[in-house]
Amino acid sequence: MEEAIRRAWWKEAVVYQIYPRSFQDTNGDGVGDLPGVIRRLDYVKELGADVIWLNPIYRSPNDDNGYDISDYRAIMEEFGTMADFDVLLREAHARGIRIVMDLVVNHTSDEHPWFVESRKSKDNPYRDYYIWREGKNGAEPNNWGGSFSGSAWQLDEVTGMYYLHLFSKKQPDLNWENPKVRREVYDLMRFWLDKGIDGFRMDVINFISKTADFPDGETNGGLYGDFGPFCINGPRIHEFLHEMNREALAPYDVMTVGEMPGATPEQAALYTGFDREELNMIFQFEHVGLDGGEYGKWSLNRVPLRALKETLSKWQTELDGRGWNSLYWNNHDQPRVVSRFGDDSTPLFREKSAKMLGTLLHMLQGTPYIYQGEELGMTNVAFPSIDDYRDIETLNAYREFTERRGVAPDEMLAYIHKNSRDNARTPMQWDDSPNAGFTTGTPWIAVNPAYREINAKAALADPNSVFYYYKKLIALRREYPIIVYGHYRLLLPDDDRVYAYERSLNGEKLLVVCSFSREAIPFPLPVPEGAELLLGNYEGESGDLRPFEARVYRYRE
Ligand code: NOJ
Repeated sequence: MEEAIRRAWWKEAVVYQIYPRSFQDTNGDGVGDLPGVIRRLDYVKELGADVIWLNPIYRSPNDDNGYDISDYRAIMEEFGTMADFDVLLREAHARGIRIVMDLVVNHTSDEHPWFVESRKSKDNPYRDYYIWREGKNGAEPNNWGGSFSGSAWQLDEVTGMYYLHLFSKKQPDLNWENPKVRREVYDLMRFWLDKGIDGFRMDVINFISKTADFPDGETNGGLYGDFGPFCINGPRIHEFLHEMNREALAPYDVMTVGEMPGATPEQAALYTGFDREELNMIFQFEHVGLDGGEYGKWSLNRVPLRALKETLSKWQTELDGRGWNSLYWNNHDQPRVVSRFGDDSTPLFREKSAKMLGTLLHMLQGTPYIYQGEELGMTNVAFPSIDDYRDIETLNAYREFTERRGVAPDEMLAYIHKNSRDNARTPMQWDDSPNAGFTTGTPWIAVNPAYREINAKAALADPNSVFYYYKKLIALRREYPIIVYGHYRLLLPDDDRVYAYERSLNGEKLLVVCSFSREAIPFPLPVPEGAELLLGNYEGESGDLRPFEARVYRYRE
């Protein structure tokens, strides 16, 4: 009997992520804008992605590039106007492209009117919109550190109490225990849904429910305690998400993806379970945490291939039939995939490993996300000085590690070259003109000097480019439901150079073989009889698996 599949448009979609600040500037102020996104819609269309996820475009003082929102119903001045947004939505829809917005509601900006009120007095009607505590023995209420270095608490002089901020001190955490806060959030969601947007990517949404008491956390050799066990996947999280679904999302045909550091597959099955009415999918973090070290993300470690296989395979098999995976290698918070998991040391290795990694990810079960420039094989940047960096996480960590933890500045800069979020935030490389065609002004962050070789204009002129390979990956997904829905089985789990797996659906099969080796190696598996080569990143077939080669075979059992 044919196995029935639960089809949904958001399972079959391919999402293209746009970081508007770094995508396309149209007015020469050095900052990307909404008219810039509109100008490049045809580029996204050409690639074949059918959903765009926009990083936050709301009004914001930009302490954390828009993740600190001061007005959820207004557009950031640097990005344009609400009229620009309306045009963008219309023009995207006219091309069959859906628009997903970033929803940042674990915290607001400290310049949001709710917080401006909240801090005024202990009995202000907005006091309870945020998380206020008395100090302990003249210091912070507990030892928690924030995600951007320093304490997670800030003393506010006006009332002499502390407020919680899991990110920067300009990002106070909302108090989700307060039903008024939840109503405000559902209201603002409906405001955008009624405009016709197609979904939300929800920022650190598994941080919104905190435990009732606030005990110290483990310091694990660092300066501060870990808030994780008390704030991540907290006690009321499923209740809140279910309520949000019922109150805001249910009437609309939209997609949702929750950003969830620290989520396990078991939890993901609850968050994304088909009948649970919470979210469609989540962004998990396990595979992007595999190269962490003594100082967390600030490390020079490479991701061990076997660990990568183990992690991705666990997510593939544990969510199969129970929930849904999102598939991503990189985004605005992660270094560039080709530099991190591939090899950008020569033009050939860069091209081959970028295509190989694209193959590996796009042939998995789930909804793939492409981060702007990934389709060009854009690489990490290594700015010579800390003064060239703009990211608050990077700048704060540099200060904390060099001033308080005894790390030498050069060592810290090496970590930053490898893992800073600014690797992803340098301007999109459109062509080889000054500033890569991103702006006619001075860009808010410098362009990666690699733009002379790696840019969209060159890629579009070269039929062999990473761009056209990604286009093929997307087109294949449209053509073969097995790519979206097939079951997954890891092959060769102990091989240190090859990631191979099989997909299967109703008697049809795919064999995916990806090499992580810089040398040619013998092809590690028998090619099944009658198999057709669906895709490869080299010309034709060979008895060897060539450096960073990827092949996808299709056959019937
Ligand atoms: C996750 C976002 O992706 C990141 O860019 C941001 O800094 C934090 N959440 C805080 O909003």
